[in-house]
Amino acid sequence: YQPGLLNGLHITLTAGPTREAIDPVRFISNHSSGKMAYALATEAVQAGARVTLISGPVNLPAPDRVELVKVTTAQEMLDASLTAVADTDVFIGVAAVADYRVSESSDHKIKKTAETLQLTLVRNPDIIGTVAALPERPFVVGFAAETRDVVEYGRDKLKRKGLDLLFANDATATFNSDSIAATAIWPAGSSEDHQELGPANKHLVARQMLMLIRQRLDA
Ligand code: C5P
Repeated sequence: YQPGLLNGLHITLTAGPTREAIDPVRFISNHSSGKMAYALATEAVQAGARVTLISGPVNLPAPDRVELVKVTTAQEMLDASLTAVADTDVFIGVAAVADYRVSESSDHKIKKTAETLQLTLVRNPDIIGTVAALPERPFVVGFAAETRDVVEYGRDKLKRKGLDLLFANDATATFNSDSIAATAIWPAGSSEDHQELGPANKHLVARQMLMLIRQRLDA
């Protein structure tokens, strides 16, 4: 690990969950803590990068010397990402973006009168997929939180979303935890196309991830 590893690079990360309103007081979200992205952002600054952190609602302090962009919904996260990627060298999608949002959230609090209540959900935009499909795009790194067949699903996701590097991990062991084990997967071509990282503290694994990003950038 070298202090100047990422000198001169602008790195943009998405972090945490997104929150999709049902009405003014209720929302759909998930258990993402934001710890992995905040650890990556902190370590990237220490490795010499300029860092933009686009974060959904989390209970973490803003890392030093990071440009923090706070967002709530997936649409806001997409808009902030598209603004940031114009001069970004590496885009890392760490956020657990809500897959669906309520099609028409209510302007007023929904009253508890009906016995059953139906919400219609619509798909949210794929932020990392949108970034990876841009004609002029940064090096794009994704995460895949799975609960089974971690490597197979990961390799499929790498191809489907057109990513340069993917960190696949077991969601149940990672969410809100201080440690992580992940498999790094990149497009096949050479004999080596994956590497195991951890299990270890998220800050330690973040450094391994940044070293691998540097290696793949240079490859
Ligand atoms: O398909 P899945 O949600 O598992 O893919 C995970 C990867 O895609 C992560 O890098 C995540 O940040 C990104 N993603 C995204 N926008 C979405 C869904 C996932 O950027 N709407």
